[in-house]
Amino acid sequence: MTTDRPEPDGTRLGELWRILPEEATANADGVLEIGGVAVTELAERFGTPLHVYDETGLRRQVRRFIDGLRERWPNSEVLFASKSLPAVGMYRLAQEEGLAVDIAGGGELRLALAAGVDPERLYFHGNAKTDAELRMALDAGIGAIIVDNDDELDRLERLLERPQRLLLRVIPGVEAKTHASQATGGLNSKFGLPIDQAARAIARMQAHPLMRFEGVHLHIGSQILDVAQFAEAVEKISGVGTFGTYDVGGGLGIAYTYEEEAPEVGAYLDSIVAAARAHLPADAKLMIEPGRSIVARAGVTLYRVTTVKRTGRTFVAVDGGLADQMDIALTQQRYEAIVADRLHEAWTESVQLVGRQCESGDLLVDGAPMPPARVGDLVVMAATGAYAYTMSNNYNGALKPAIVFAREGDARLVARRESYDDLLATHAPAMADAEAFA
Ligand SMILES: Cc1ncc(COP(=O)(O)O)c(C=O)c1O
Repeated sequence: MTTDRPEPDGTRLGELWRILPEEATANADGVLEIGGVAVTELAERFGTPLHVYDETGLRRQVRRFIDGLRERWPNSEVLFASKSLPAVGMYRLAQEEGLAVDIAGGGELRLALAAGVDPERLYFHGNAKTDAELRMALDAGIGAIIVDNDDELDRLERLLERPQRLLLRVIPGVEAKTHASQATGGLNSKFGLPIDQAARAIARMQAHPLMRFEGVHLHIGSQILDVAQFAEAVEKISGVGTFGTYDVGGGLGIAYTYEEEAPEVGAYLDSIVAAARAHLPADAKLMIEPGRSIVARAGVTLYRVTTVKRTGRTFVAVDGGLADQMDIALTQQRYEAIVADRLHEAWTESVQLVGRQCESGDLLVDGAPMPPARVGDLVVMAATGAYAYTMSNNYNGALKPAIVFAREGDARLVARRESYDDLLATHAPAMADAEAFA
């Protein structure tokens, strides 16, 4: 037991440190610190709910992917799957650390460009890209487009005015062991073309004077904990043909709970690269697209307790909820939460940690062990760095939380909290035209 990572009797803090951010510690008052900044200070300065990232741990994790893949397969590129944290500050960090960026849609394109990401290092995904989005991407000088289907090729034939690098997304036929909504590599997937339809699309691209077909792409799903599944996908895709580039997607899972174990980045890379050595051309470029496994552990969500109700069960309600943790409703992912400003106290209660949205399904943690909670306590939900901000919404008029990066004792605001004026802004037509609604 170290002094700054206590493991008091009657708590599970010892187990929690491995799912909290790498640079998480406790100060002498028993208050959780992220990146050297106490959560009490973060709540006071920036308010709650708040997404807090350990910037040092985040950058370290990026290096594990980039350096680890380069050591094993020098002709390689790591793309950040930006849907996992579409924040200008994160796009900028990705660019600074040498990641390329996967975008899916005009919105992520605009965010990436606003962050100053080199357009040449952007890869455009999506199964339903529109003409307008493709035009935006082409005008920006996008690095490559990952073509999903024949209709997209029709669009590109109409829109292309200069040579454009392209990859084709194929369905490898690997049923990922994950929640159904996160599995994308099975034969019935809506993403990409089945292997037996790929050859025709590839021939079409190869015949076009402006299409520079470079290779194939796959993505079998998200929150995958068995690294053998990635190797299986690499083997399957090798059967499509011999190309210059193979992008084998993202999907590495992380540990969310006290019990869960997740593979290390190194074990994941070992598995992919062993399969690449066995099945892909030795001089091919190998690409991966991690999202969750880069940002999830580095981020926590900070809430303040607003209500404690004992009605047979103990309900501890916080000032956020489903609106900023949609993943729970979508994938039934279990998370862990702690009272973060009283770390030395024994956890004597098991509570229903709930949010403030009007759904009984707005249950953040079913049976969270904690000390008897009080109004005003600060609660931290661990491992919420991926997809939480992405999916946050305005249910019950909730405001999208702010994002803060904390590092070596300093905290900086990366995205401000939405305001009520932001909430009203899109409704200006109705407000200006009140009579029409009378
Ligand atoms: C094409 C593509 N690549 C990469 C990812 C990132 O997946 P993960 O966040 O699980 O690494 C996704 C996630 O949906 C995806 O659709």
